[in-house]
Amino acid sequence: MATEVVVPMLGITIEKGKILKWLKSEGEFVKKGESIFEVETDKLVTEVESPATGILKKILIPENIEVPVLTVVAVITEKGEELPERYRAIKPEIPPPPTPSMLSQPQPQKVSALSIRASEEGYDIAILGAGVGGYVAAIRAAQMGARVLLIEKDELGGTCLNRGCIPTKSFLSDVKIYSKVRGSDIFINGSKVSIDLKKMASRKNKVVETMRRGVSMLLDSQKVTFVRGFAKFSDPKTIEVSSNGKVKNYKAKNVIIATGSQVASLPTVKIDGKKILSSDEVVDLREIPKEVIVIGGGVVGVEFATIFNCLGTKVTVLEMLPQIISTEDEEVIRGLKLLLEKQGITILTRSKVLSAFPGREKVEVTIDQEGKKERLFGKKVIMAVGRTPYTEGLNLERVGIQMEGKFIKVNSKMETNVDGVYAIGDVIGKMMLAHAASAEGIVAVENIMGKVREIDYQKIPSCIYTFPEVASVGLKESEAKQKGYDIQVGKFPYLNNGKALAMGEAEGFVKIVAEKELGQILGVHILGEHATDLIGECLLAMNVEASIEDLGEVIKGHPTLSEAVAEAALDWNGIAIHKTKIL
Ligand code: NAI
Repeated sequence: MATEVVVPMLGITIEKGKILKWLKSEGEFVKKGESIFEVETDKLVTEVESPATGILKKILIPENIEVPVLTVVAVITEKGEELPERYRAIKPEIPPPPTPSMLSQPQPQKVSALSIRASEEGYDIAILGAGVGGYVAAIRAAQMGARVLLIEKDELGGTCLNRGCIPTKSFLSDVKIYSKVRGSDIFINGSKVSIDLKKMASRKNKVVETMRRGVSMLLDSQKVTFVRGFAKFSDPKTIEVSSNGKVKNYKAKNVIIATGSQVASLPTVKIDGKKILSSDEVVDLREIPKEVIVIGGGVVGVEFATIFNCLGTKVTVLEMLPQIISTEDEEVIRGLKLLLEKQGITILTRSKVLSAFPGREKVEVTIDQEGKKERLFGKKVIMAVGRTPYTEGLNLERVGIQMEGKFIKVNSKMETNVDGVYAIGDVIGKMMLAHAASAEGIVAVENIMGKVREIDYQKIPSCIYTFPEVASVGLKESEAKQKGYDIQVGKFPYLNNGKALAMGEAEGFVKIVAEKELGQILGVHILGEHATDLIGECLLAMNVEASIEDLGEVIKGHPTLSEAVAEAALDWNGIAIHKTKIL
């Protein structure tokens, strides 16, 4: 299908741009995201990226012609595709010869990004919420020359930094060492080592505090205006912020809603913060409970199960579906479940929680196991049945923002239905992950600043921090088959990797799903130590459209876990070196 190349909106006040230079010629192959022409306005010269991969079939506007923004200047077609009829009649405009006065005019300074600044009476972009979606968007916007206002009612960094990803990773790091020492006979008296929960909490607090300070410094260095208070819309271009009983209005040409989410519960279960806890309270727990029942075998559920199991708590996970973390590849799920059970975690699938009531000593949890009611008792219960978007009090109805269920509806450019209002992160509910929120924030900002950007969820990884870790990107094996791909799978066990063995972390595997004929990588699924780091190179391969053979040809340092990725890629061709030949 042909794709039109247009002069992008280069800034809030810019209406026209001159095609300064074509960086590609007619008939040349261009890649999506590659710079294809330079455009000049009275403020800047910027390179415009190709919106598609294909052949630059026809240039409609030659160099030195000024056109309004959004004018179609070229057409890209797929390989072998004819130029559609409607473009054939269009003759490229002939540029007027430059006059001496034009030649003597000073050329605008070339900048790598847009460098427009709003008028002093308002902001270019106001961002509601300073979690990893909001603060990353603020930094990107400031880098691109926008005047940015960032508003947060609580702490910088949102759930991820204060109550989610970062605190749990600090805990996981401590409990990993603890369980390794206790579980190994190399250390004299290792099995008698105990853990100081207070110190573990204080280390976590220090990590969080250091990161908050770091984010604050980054925002200061970019001259982002940070305001603490509760933000709500007065109208699409006016944000009212209340703080300590005072109310102030701020004007902004664009608004990004990045208010995140909060813990969800079941209608029959009340989180009391004492015996029935959400992830918010768990990260501040002061004693190690004897037993914990985790409701929900999703990402949060399995991560907390891992932490408490290492601390010596008896852990039971209740999951209503036939599998835990059902979003992952079936083989990975099976492997992870076995490994978690081997570590001592009880996992009850097809077990729907009906109610949970705190008694004097324990919480009574009633479950429905395939039609049969059962009762379980635990000292503490952790609710991990998902999160719900945080939209209360924003006045979204007043500005007419369209919703999709509880979430704010956006398109792939992060635009809501209201002109100039964007939404990113958990509040839109696409992929409720920290790094997805950051990516969406960058897409929103770059669109506001005149680039044409769309989010591609297929290229966003999933990372689960259990022991061992799980990471994936792209299609699961079953999904690839359902989509009609003729696939072949390459697989390599950690057991055959020297570094994994040496580390005592030989459980798991790398699995790559690729198209059979051309070796296009469709999905990568890793269960194993440092899976969340290893997925990075697979993402890069998929981003640059490397084939699985390219991935196998990379010479890896030895010994590294990364060799397992290359070996899985080689295995796709049946030529993995450290894998026994099946006779
Ligand atoms: P989730 O949606 O991942 O999992 C919730 C689980 O609870 C589901 O498997 C669901 O079937 C189960 N469930 C629901 N009702 C139930 C019932 N009555 N009885 C038994 N099971 C029931 O939600 P989770 O784990 O709370 O995570 C929240 C969000 O935070 C997710 O979107 C997740 O992706 C994100 N997150 C991501 C992390 C990461 O990437 N490492 C870490 C922590 C959170």
